[in-house]
Amino acid sequence: MRLSSLSGVLLLLTCLPSALALKAGDFKTCAQSGFCRRGRALAERANANAGAWTSPYSVDPSTLVIAPHEAQFTAGVKSSLYPDIKFGLDVRVHKDGVVRVRMDEVGGLRKRYDEAASWALIQQPEISSEIRWTAGKKDVRAVYGRKKEFEVVITFEPLRVTLLRNGKEQVVLNGQGLLHMEHFRTKEETPATAQVEGGEEGEQVVIKAENPRAWFEGESEDAYWDETFLSWTDSKPKGPESLSLDINFPNHGHVYGIPQRATHLDLPTTTGENPTFTDPYRLYNADVFEYLASSPMSLYGSIPLMHAHSPDSTVAIFNAIASETWIDVSHPTRSSTNTQWVSESGILDVFILPGPTPSDVFAQYATLTGAAPLPAHWALGYHQCRWNYVSTDDVRSVQKRFDEEDIPVDVFWLDIEYAEEHKYFIWDRKNFPDPVDMMKDVEAVGRKMVVIVDPHLKRSSNYPVYQEASELNVLVKPKNGEGEYEGWCWSGSSSWVDFFNPNSWDWWKGLFKTTVRDDGKFSWLDSTENVHVWNDMNEPSIFNGPEITMPKDSIHYGGWEHRDVHNINGMLFHNLTSQAVSTRSDPPKRPFVLTRSFYAGSQRFGAMWTGDNLGTWDHMAVGIYMVLANGVAGMTFAGSDVGGFFGNPEPEMLVRWYQVGAFNPFFRAHAHLDTKRREPFLLDEPYKSIVRDILRLRYSMLPVWYTAFHEGSLTGVPVLRPHYVMFPQDEAGFSIDDQYFVGSSGLLVKPVVQKGVTETSVYLPEDQVGIALVYYNYFTNYIYTGSAKGKNVTVPSALHQTPLLIRGGSIVSTRERPRRSSPLMKYDPFTLRVALDKSGNAKGDLYLDDGETYDYQQGNYIWREFVAGKNGKKGVKISSKDLGIAGRAGNEFEMSMESVRVEKIVVVGLGGKPTSVKLEAGGKELEWTYEPGVAADGKKEGEGSVLVIKDPGVGVGIDWVVVVS
Ligand code: NOJ
Repeated sequence: MRLSSLSGVLLLLTCLPSALALKAGDFKTCAQSGFCRRGRALAERANANAGAWTSPYSVDPSTLVIAPHEAQFTAGVKSSLYPDIKFGLDVRVHKDGVVRVRMDEVGGLRKRYDEAASWALIQQPEISSEIRWTAGKKDVRAVYGRKKEFEVVITFEPLRVTLLRNGKEQVVLNGQGLLHMEHFRTKEETPATAQVEGGEEGEQVVIKAENPRAWFEGESEDAYWDETFLSWTDSKPKGPESLSLDINFPNHGHVYGIPQRATHLDLPTTTGENPTFTDPYRLYNADVFEYLASSPMSLYGSIPLMHAHSPDSTVAIFNAIASETWIDVSHPTRSSTNTQWVSESGILDVFILPGPTPSDVFAQYATLTGAAPLPAHWALGYHQCRWNYVSTDDVRSVQKRFDEEDIPVDVFWLDIEYAEEHKYFIWDRKNFPDPVDMMKDVEAVGRKMVVIVDPHLKRSSNYPVYQEASELNVLVKPKNGEGEYEGWCWSGSSSWVDFFNPNSWDWWKGLFKTTVRDDGKFSWLDSTENVHVWNDMNEPSIFNGPEITMPKDSIHYGGWEHRDVHNINGMLFHNLTSQAVSTRSDPPKRPFVLTRSFYAGSQRFGAMWTGDNLGTWDHMAVGIYMVLANGVAGMTFAGSDVGGFFGNPEPEMLVRWYQVGAFNPFFRAHAHLDTKRREPFLLDEPYKSIVRDILRLRYSMLPVWYTAFHEGSLTGVPVLRPHYVMFPQDEAGFSIDDQYFVGSSGLLVKPVVQKGVTETSVYLPEDQVGIALVYYNYFTNYIYTGSAKGKNVTVPSALHQTPLLIRGGSIVSTRERPRRSSPLMKYDPFTLRVALDKSGNAKGDLYLDDGETYDYQQGNYIWREFVAGKNGKKGVKISSKDLGIAGRAGNEFEMSMESVRVEKIVVVGLGGKPTSVKLEAGGKELEWTYEPGVAADGKKEGEGSVLVIKDPGVGVGIDWVVVVS
């Protein structure tokens, strides 16, 4: 590192949080959080009194109002504990069968925060006008579905919501009676007192009715008002307002989702059986320094979406709440799951997604919160980051080294040291004297830059961004609601823009413009439209705040406390930045904005990464589970830092990490300031060549990734697909999270995440279609035969080998010319690899467009389906046909790609040597070679036969048929 950058580094080190390793004590356990304690105690009382326990909440049938023309009703709810307090229930069935259940206190002392869903949803969901509620004496119910298979029942006394499918309970709310919405009260209300008897092991706890509510609420008012954690006191001016709810899946033994945390995809229980997970899962966005590789603790983002799965169906619930939430998971039996959700504030707003297949659930969730949009094509290339490239010349020399070594890369990143005193947008001119020239140098081969913009604004009179925010009065306020909240982050004393305040929006978007603003405010003149953005520290991370974040009693727009909106805060920053980046160019281009913090709906604004992982094998492994869990919860454009953020990985580990990264949707190497440089060109042989090959493999497969993203943008199905998503009835796959499929390409990968590995056992799923049953080694065409019951096979995985298989029945499109960056591949020809299934068939698709504008929305794209089908005994017919909407053929993009050919078709697993290979139209014999080998008939394992058809003379965007006889 050059001397001149040292001063910045020193300043920065003085700002670092005091701990350099996870101090678990910096973060609350459930026992240290008043409302979580109350929630768990409620569950304990219910368990101790099982059988005698009934929820005090009931629907008052006399208040039931059923909407005449749509599937909605409202009703009053009361609690027998507080007859004077009123609650309102609102239940709707959406057009797609999703059930939304809302409950709020009515006419209370204060208002509960009820806007979480409005930030998460893309629009107000359409209520069904066909489904009808029928009210009876004891309940109100609606039957729906194509075969009337679904029924939703709201039982009046006690209040219970049940979704059934074919008479079988799928989701039950308040079945255990743990619903509790603490009403607003004054501090003066008499404290509850009660006498407790019993409580010895095995004895029932009897609470004498001196305080008639104590059986339910407990004998003391535990942490109702101000609460202290370490040196911080939360003033809690609104008092208790927490919300507990049990959500049970009586017929589903596996639950997934609720990212983000470092654990397995199939969520372990938290209530006893698992000795390491004794706390509930926590959703409270936090900057957890050197987080553990296995823990229920919360991390940077929170998505309150949970899938529940069984061989019979997949269902999900989305609990639209923005405050701190704890979730206990237990399995009363192997095939059932109970969960309890306890949130600090907010209304009850639960969406029940009925499935019944994983793809139905993804579609239902995408209808609510949107699918991840198609990213810019370059964003799927390789990103090179480190904290920090220290000068414009440093960036240039890193780029030069990549080019000299022929290692592909698309994006160079700048971390916080580019900014003078960490005042984002303002270049440190000593080290970055010519930022625009540097960017132009990077852009020369179509590359891009990503530059960090954090949310903390240095409170400095010479920082226009802070000054303007202050003048606009759009900064978060401290607890009394007066002035500006002040905390510490990289930039020293800082303030935070309150993105809940609409007055901040246009101003923020304007900051990113590369031209002078009409309103005379700051804009980023020394930047170009090829600079995209990285939003970090947006939990928000505040070094001197409680749990390294903002005090919960800080005040946002509308008078809401930070406690009410905490988990959404980071998403708003990401949302506005993403809008800002997309409008810098005219016509707009697809923005790339990486975020660390996220919430339900964040998938609409860009990618995420798993934060500050460690350079250890454990972290490498858990990164895969975390990326899968994010995908399940909609946030599919995800990855973990290749190499590990902290530490200096040995070459073997670094190579394996590149293999993991190459099969992550977002592929970025990053490293902490204190680490040694570890760009791939610095590696010795053979490591350098291996990493080059991995990067080339990723680039050759960009068509696969782009096509998978395209599909996801239409369906909400994640790019990385876990086994339960692909094979929902194959129980052996329900807990598998170390291997997964890429889109619908048929590629099955199991990255190696251990030292010294030379072979890997890969699970071939039970075949539910009954025809595939063969898998091919991607690199050698070795055929593995599957089994109807599922089976493990051993795949070679020496350091240069990634266990990567193609499922028989797939056609994979690649581009095999090594280039320095992905834009340089734009007109490169395609190779199709046809991996036949047992009956000699295969299928695949390919989506292409200009990769950066929104022209594709006007039909400017190529979308082909390739189909291979048996032709006679040992032949095959392979065809390409249009998959796009009708009337789109001959669109501008397609025309611009006229010269782009399919240069090679490789057919693996044919039964014997063909006698002729011709184009159906034209009939000319094509050039081909044939290597005999094992056929894909599922009888034998071994090297598959390989037919290579050279240059069939067909364009990638047109219809054609190749006939192999
Ligand atoms: C924390 C981020 O997680 C890390 O990736 C980044 O390098 C540092 N902040 C400095 O910006």
